[in-house]
Amino acid sequence: MFDIDRARRETRACENLIHFNNAGSSLMPSPISDTLHAFLTKEEEFGGYETAHLEEAALERFYASFAKLLNCESSEIAYVENATRAWDMAFYSFKFNQGDKILTTISEYGSNVIAYLQQARRYGVELVFVPNDDYGQIDVEALGKMIDGRTKLISISHIPTGGGLVNPAKEVGKIAKEAGIPFLLDACQSIGQIPLDVKDIGCDMASGTGRKYLRGPRGTGLLYVSKEWANRLEPPMLDQHAANLISPSQYEIEPGAKRFENWEQYFAGKAALGVAADYAMAWGLEAIQSRIYALASLLRTKLTAIDGLTVTDEGKEQCGIVTFMTEQKTPPDIKAELAKRRINVSTPAGSGSLVSFQHRGLSHLVRASLHYFNTEKEIETFCDALQEILNA
Ligand SMILES: Cc1ncc(COP(=O)(O)O)c(C=O)c1O
Repeated sequence: MFDIDRARRETRACENLIHFNNAGSSLMPSPISDTLHAFLTKEEEFGGYETAHLEEAALERFYASFAKLLNCESSEIAYVENATRAWDMAFYSFKFNQGDKILTTISEYGSNVIAYLQQARRYGVELVFVPNDDYGQIDVEALGKMIDGRTKLISISHIPTGGGLVNPAKEVGKIAKEAGIPFLLDACQSIGQIPLDVKDIGCDMASGTGRKYLRGPRGTGLLYVSKEWANRLEPPMLDQHAANLISPSQYEIEPGAKRFENWEQYFAGKAALGVAADYAMAWGLEAIQSRIYALASLLRTKLTAIDGLTVTDEGKEQCGIVTFMTEQKTPPDIKAELAKRRINVSTPAGSGSLVSFQHRGLSHLVRASLHYFNTEKEIETFCDALQEILNA
């Protein structure tokens, strides 16, 4: 059984608000927040470099914690400032040639699409959106058929930013492995929300962020790169942490995922993010997933009963991200009215989900993203508030 009382006790802000914006940035629980604050206080009292030295063990533990969370080795983990840069460090390490193909999904994250297009412009790469199946997830059969001698990379978002869908990453990984094509997984919304075993999924690279379902601090993220790939990929940028300058004319790139890191880092964030990984594992990722899925399913059922409201989530498997639109009010109006009642949601629009939204004829949605510390009672309050707003 999930100890919801404890989860809420350790989430101090729970008392004052209903936070349904966990896919934006979750609420830091006290053990993570306290680690962050203590680290910053130490920096203030002892100095930044001195604190990094004093806290060396906690900073090293970051790698072991994520290796455990993702089922990989510590040397396959890099600490990066956010999911986008983590993903970029992997993606821009590939040397593309004219005619190479990148296969992605219609539900791909906007920043990733921009990066594909930039490389397409630079090198004449072909960007291919694999069609969706009837559930709106990547059609894995079509993916298999679309791989050919020109396919250089398979790259998908596990859980898209703008809806409840969970793409079948493991099936994609199987196809990628069979074809010998590298597989880059954007796990930004799945890390901390569902179990994520990179070996089982079969991805060669995966990016994640700290502030969303992991409940870590803002400005933190991570990258997994398998040791097979890490040593073959040359990062787009190097500094004297990622590489060693050994003479005026020579440098050596660090082995493993360290080559994707910066020398200067948000050290307090790193220590706190390591604690966030431990904290998630202490709850158990299966338990987290099943609680989130059950809450989201309840919310979808209740929303469906509201007149004039359409739930817009796709997917055979649906996660904690719940999206909808209404005939009566625009998403920004709904968000503003909910905010007056101390209820947080977000309103995805624009480039984050552009390809998917255009494909589906959508422009703007309300996104209520749930975490395990949310409750059935909050869902009830939320739906009552929504009904009231729509009736006004
Ligand atoms: C699927 C997906 N990928 C990447 C990102 C970017 O993450 P970050 O803001 O940490 O760079 C997001 C953020 O919403 C996302 O939803």
